[in-house]
Amino acid sequence: MVSRVIPVDPFDLVIFGGTGDLARRKILPALYRRFCAGQIEADVQITGAARREMDADGYRAFVAEAIASAEMAEGRRPDTASQAEFLKMLDYVTIDALGEAGWDRLSAGTRNERIRAYYFSVAPRFFGPLAERLHLYGLADASARIVVEKPFGRDLASARDLNRVLAGYFNECQIYRIDHYLGKETVQNLMAIRFGNMLFEPLWNSQYVDHIQITVAEEHGVGGRGDYYDRAGAMRDMMQNHLMQLLCLIAMEPPAKFDPDAVRDEKLKVIRALDPLGAGDVVRGQYRAAEGRPGYHEEVENPDSTTESFVALKARISNWRWAGTPFYLRTGKRLRERASEIAVVFKDAPHSIFGDDAGRHRNILTIKLQPNEGIELGVTIKEPGPGGMRLIDVPLDMTFAEALGPQDADFPDAYERLIMDVIRGNQTLFMRGDEVEAAWAWTDAAIRGWEERGEPPLTYETGSSGPQEALTLMLRDGRRWREIKA
Ligand code: BG6
Repeated sequence: MVSRVIPVDPFDLVIFGGTGDLARRKILPALYRRFCAGQIEADVQITGAARREMDADGYRAFVAEAIASAEMAEGRRPDTASQAEFLKMLDYVTIDALGEAGWDRLSAGTRNERIRAYYFSVAPRFFGPLAERLHLYGLADASARIVVEKPFGRDLASARDLNRVLAGYFNECQIYRIDHYLGKETVQNLMAIRFGNMLFEPLWNSQYVDHIQITVAEEHGVGGRGDYYDRAGAMRDMMQNHLMQLLCLIAMEPPAKFDPDAVRDEKLKVIRALDPLGAGDVVRGQYRAAEGRPGYHEEVENPDSTTESFVALKARISNWRWAGTPFYLRTGKRLRERASEIAVVFKDAPHSIFGDDAGRHRNILTIKLQPNEGIELGVTIKEPGPGGMRLIDVPLDMTFAEALGPQDADFPDAYERLIMDVIRGNQTLFMRGDEVEAAWAWTDAAIRGWEERGEPPLTYETGSSGPQEALTLMLRDGRRWREIKA
């Protein structure tokens, strides 16, 4: 089974921040991969736009290096012939996002009849000025769309301001707010599992589900992004967007259609049904130095920082489907392993006909996001052999790489999928303005809470599962986190 590639219409793409880290690591390699897959045809123009002085040849050399290192990181070698073809599509404009330099040149090279995407891969303070300049130079017409990277604001007020500014120049259907988690293959699979199978949906409610756990654990620390991260923290950097999006997809009602507004309406209803978080519902942590690796304070070069690199919380959704079923969410850096999963833990059978000796057994549906994408359903069976009726739990494992074969399990990177969706004009996997605002409203209240209480984060060991108190958050409900394991 080889997946079908449908080429997208010809388009022109301008990457503001075209020499930046995200462009180098993700956006340009993603475009190259789609080109190799035959999804992008040759008559496409990709323009890097940034402050740095450079000509088109210089940019091509920069992109060639970016592709080579991204391909090497994936254990592949760039194909010289396709790379040469791809590089021909590239151009570069030195531009000033806040001034006039470069804009005449950009607008002179614009093919207005084309699908045109403008990728804002720059710091958020440039989003508004870029949108305004696109408008002033006549580039914000109906065939234009903008792609906006996170962070989309740092709280409700700033997200609202940003939405208002962008709405001054573009319609909502032209604004693509990226959350790259929505482009991950298994995240999309979540919807396929729920709404493509009869098996799960009848049980997908508080009558049958005891609780749901979502873990996004990272092994690395904040690295070179200390400056940004220390002003954000895990709540703003990961919880408000990636984990809340996962929560929405798990908890939402079935949309009538797989179409952008139908899906986003349902996600928004989930966020609006979330109860406010109380003081006892949130645990924050900060990693300390260990095994020769620097602690959080050293990494961000701020010995007084009270920013969290870990957050765990207990969320409740007050609606008919979920009242009584808690959702436990946690994410952090410098944890035991890079391992992300969603676990749907079903309730005990109402009565055990095998007596107390059989022990406690529960079905758990685990959706593994990364690494080793796949789905696992834990079922209870009889332990093989003689010796009475002893029960054991075994996983029905569908690791995609094994089930589909290596070729079909070579999933495109999230950015590949999302950029192609921008060109196709499909906003299903992008966040709508009201959704982002609702998510901020919920996290803002929690952040305000700990700021008012003056609570510093707890410390945790590098390589651990986070602070002990995160375990207590579940233990006091008689539940346990699953082990962080790839
Ligand atoms: C980004 C965060 O959005 O997601 C980073 O800003 C984080 O802090 C990253 O490391 C994780 O993404 P992934 O795809 O590696 O899980």
